[in-house]
Amino acid sequence: MEKKLRAKITGVGSYVPDYILTNEELSAMVDTTDEWIMSHVGIKERHILKEPGKATSDMGAEAVKRLLEKTNTKPEEIDLLICGTVTADMLFPACACLICDKTNIRNAFAFDLNTGCCGFIYTLATAARYVESGRYKKVIVVGADMNSSMTDYTDRATCPLFGDAAGAVLLEPTTEELGVLDEKMGTDGSGWSHLHLKAGGSLMRPTYKTIDEHLQCIYMEGQAVFKWAVVKMADVAEEVIHKNGLDPMDVWLLPHQANLRIIDAVKHRIEFNPEKVLVNIEKYGNTSGATILLVLSDFEKKFKKGDDLVLCSFGAGFSWGAIWLKWAY
Ligand code: UT7
Repeated sequence: MEKKLRAKITGVGSYVPDYILTNEELSAMVDTTDEWIMSHVGIKERHILKEPGKATSDMGAEAVKRLLEKTNTKPEEIDLLICGTVTADMLFPACACLICDKTNIRNAFAFDLNTGCCGFIYTLATAARYVESGRYKKVIVVGADMNSSMTDYTDRATCPLFGDAAGAVLLEPTTEELGVLDEKMGTDGSGWSHLHLKAGGSLMRPTYKTIDEHLQCIYMEGQAVFKWAVVKMADVAEEVIHKNGLDPMDVWLLPHQANLRIIDAVKHRIEFNPEKVLVNIEKYGNTSGATILLVLSDFEKKFKKGDDLVLCSFGAGFSWGAIWLKWAY
C-alpha cells in the first residue's frame, strides 16, 4: 500500500522591522505605564514598520527571501504561496501576489487567507492539503501583519498590544510520519462584533467622518475577547492532544501571543511542561498572523527531529484552531 503523504516544515524565515516602540515611548503618547502593560499583557516592546512606502508585503517578502536562502531554494521551484494576513497592502490584489512579485516567485499560484490571529494556523492547514495531494512539492506559508497600519495610537486600550512582523515556512512532502499530523479548527461568527475593523470594507466605505472617528482602526472589547480566547485556545489544544494520545508534558506548546495572562490560563488548564510553553510576547507584542511564526523562528534551534509541537490560536471571527505537527529536522 502506498504511504500517505504528509506536509513537513523544512525551514523557517522571519522578519521584524528595525524600529522598536517601547512601553516608555507609549507612556508619553497615551495615559499608560510600563507597569500596567507588563502586569496586564506582558509586552515590553514591539517592532513597528515606519519606512514610508513599505507595507505588509515588504515584510512578507523579506521573510520569504530569508527562507529561500536558508533552505537553498530557488524562487522558480515554488509551486504555491499562501499568505495569512488581515493587513494586506491593498484590498486587492492579494498580499501573496505582491510577495511573489517582490521575491521573483513566477511559477506559483498565490492567494491570501483572512483569518486574523489564526492566520498561520489556518494557512498552514490549508497549505498542508495541497502538499498531501501530491501535486505540489514546494509550498510557502507566510503570516504577515502590519498591525500599526490599523492601530489607534490615541487609544490606550489597544495601542500597547500590537506590533508588525512577518514569518514564512517551506512545506514539502514526505512519506515519514512527520509534519502536519492533525488539526482542529472552529469558528463562531457571532463573535464578530467584539473584534473588528468598522470602516474600509463594503459595509462602511471610508469617509472624512470615519477617519475623524478612527473607525479604520481596530475595535476590540478586550474582556470579551479575553474570556473567549482562554476557553477556546485551551479547549482546542486539549482536544488535539487527547485525540492523538499525546502527553502534554512532552509537547512543545506554541500559543498565539496576544496576552501573557491568556497563555498562563491555558497553561493552568492543561498541565504542560512550563519549559516547553514557548513565549516571546515581551519582545514583539501581538503580531497577528506572524506570532506563531516568530515563536517557531526564535525557538527553532530547540526542536529536534520527531519532536511534537502543538500550535494554537484564537482571534477575530471568532476563530480558533490547533495543529499537531512533528518537527522534521
Ligand atoms: O489576538 C486577538 C485577540 N486579542 C486578544 O486576545 C486580547 C484579549 N484581551 C486582553 O488581552 C485584555 O482584555 C486587554 C489587555 C485588552 C485589557 O486588559 P484587561 O485586564 O481586560 O483590562 P480592562 O479592559 O478590564 O481595563 C481595566 C482598567 C480600565 O480602567 P478602569 O475602568 O478600571 O478605571 C481601563 O481603562 O485598565 C484601564 N486600562 C489601562 N490603564 C493603563 C486599559 N488599558 C490601559 C492601559 N494603561 N494601556
